[in-house]
Amino acid sequence: MEPSSSLVTVSVTKITTFTISLLFLISCSTFTSTEAYDALDPNGNITIKWDVIQWTADGYVAVVTMYNFQQYRHIQSPGWTLGWTWAKKEVIWSMMGAQTTEQGDCSKFKGNVPHCCKKNPTVVDLLPGTPYNQQIANCCKGGVISSWAQDPAGAVSSFQVSVGAAGTTNKTVRVPKNITLKAPGPGYTCGPAKIVRPTAFMSADKRRVTQALMTWNITCTYSQFLAQKTPTCCVSLSSFYNDTIVSCPTCACGCQNSTAGTGSGTCVHPDTPHLASVISPPGKSDNTPLVQCTSHMCPIRVHWHVKLNYKEYWRVKVTVTNFNYRMNYSLWNMVVQHPQL
Ligand SMILES: *[C@@H]1O[C@H](CO)[C@@H](O)[C@H](O)[C@H]1NC(C)=O
Ligand SMILES: *[C@@H]1O[C@H](CO)[C@@H](O)[C@H](O)[C@H]1NC(C)=O
Ligand SMILES: *[C@@H]1O[C@H](CO)[C@@H](O)[C@H](O)[C@H]1NC(C)=O
Ligand SMILES: *[C@@H]1O[C@H](CO)[C@@H](O)[C@H](O)[C@H]1NC(C)=O
Ligand SMILES: *[C@@H]1O[C@H](CO)[C@@H](O)[C@H](O)[C@H]1NC(C)=O
Ligand SMILES: *[C@@H]1O[C@H](CO)[C@@H](O)[C@H](O)[C@H]1NC(C)=O
Repeated sequence: MEPSSSLVTVSVTKITTFTISLLFLISCSTFTSTEAYDALDPNGNITIKWDVIQWTADGYVAVVTMYNFQQYRHIQSPGWTLGWTWAKKEVIWSMMGAQTTEQGDCSKFKGNVPHCCKKNPTVVDLLPGTPYNQQIANCCKGGVISSWAQDPAGAVSSFQVSVGAAGTTNKTVRVPKNITLKAPGPGYTCGPAKIVRPTAFMSADKRRVTQALMTWNITCTYSQFLAQKTPTCCVSLSSFYNDTIVSCPTCACGCQNSTAGTGSGTCVHPDTPHLASVISPPGKSDNTPLVQCTSHMCPIRVHWHVKLNYKEYWRVKVTVTNFNYRMNYSLWNMVVQHPQL
């Protein structure tokens, strides 16, 4: 449970050009609007695509695929949660590669009982190790999805849903409404489902193309401000030519014991007895960080130490420190903007 640090050394040659894939998960900048816009990834979004692959006697079977088109922001454990509200009285007969968190009231069904009868189902991914007969491609990753820049192949998550009491043609089917995505915790806003050109599927040998019977897309965008009102990291600086360390600004991510209503202000002293009992299991309950008490109160500190500064290049050592007891940020990445990078 000790806060851990990672070291990264950056060398930048001023003459040769090369790309540095230093990616920063959480932008340290402050956000002043609720606009879903990330300056470091302005086109980033999560697109959710529903492909109807079969009409059934009372509805349809659809494959739902989530594409994380965000360059840097992945979906970490405990994973995504997808919710929606049915437009009519649809039920979910069965699912593959995911499940609803609640079945709801299916008492009016005799014999065959649906998987879920709720008007607003909430769906979660299945866990790795799910039996093969409940899997489909790109499922069962515990809701964890990579970012596009890190691993495009891992930036996709799918499940299959068999819907009943629904339209059985592309004229009578109704798209789900009020789609919500938690990934995990708040931050995403999803637009309405839009009927788009049916997806074309290429066969493995690329010799035959089939197509979905009907397709609709939903685009969800992230807002740091919606996710959390205070920044989640701060930057401190030092250099070889000056003994002064410019530390993170006091209260950069909130002030200790402030009652400013954002949930920040509570922190844990590392020498607190029974620390473990204070720290709830990571991922459980809410998304609020449980941080070690510091003057800056940030879950993450990025320390930028200039080691060398020559005419041709400079070199810095970057130390990333995790002060959040609820997270181990195992898939972390860091994005740096610098005029000379
Ligand atoms: C979502 O991201 C993809 C990939 O960057 C992009 O092609 C698409 O236009 C974006 N969608 C929206 C609605 O911004
Ligand atoms: C619905 O299906 C008909 C053919 O059955 C097709 O001509 C039409 O374009 C489809 N409409 C949509 C919105 O997919
Ligand atoms: C949309 O979904 C959210 C969360 O499930 C719920 O709080 C809200 O009332 C819903 N809105 C509508 C119009 O159904
Ligand atoms: C729907 O989403 C899929 C997956 O991102 C994309 O390939 C397709 O172009 C989108 N369709 C439209 C019309 O945006
Ligand atoms: C060292 O840094 C401090 C704080 O930025 C600054 O006030 C001081 O002038 C610097 N000293 C030198 C020798 O550059
Ligand atoms: C930390 O990350 C590892 C994967 O590297 C994961 O197995 C473990 O459950 C995580 N622990 C916590 C406390 O999140």
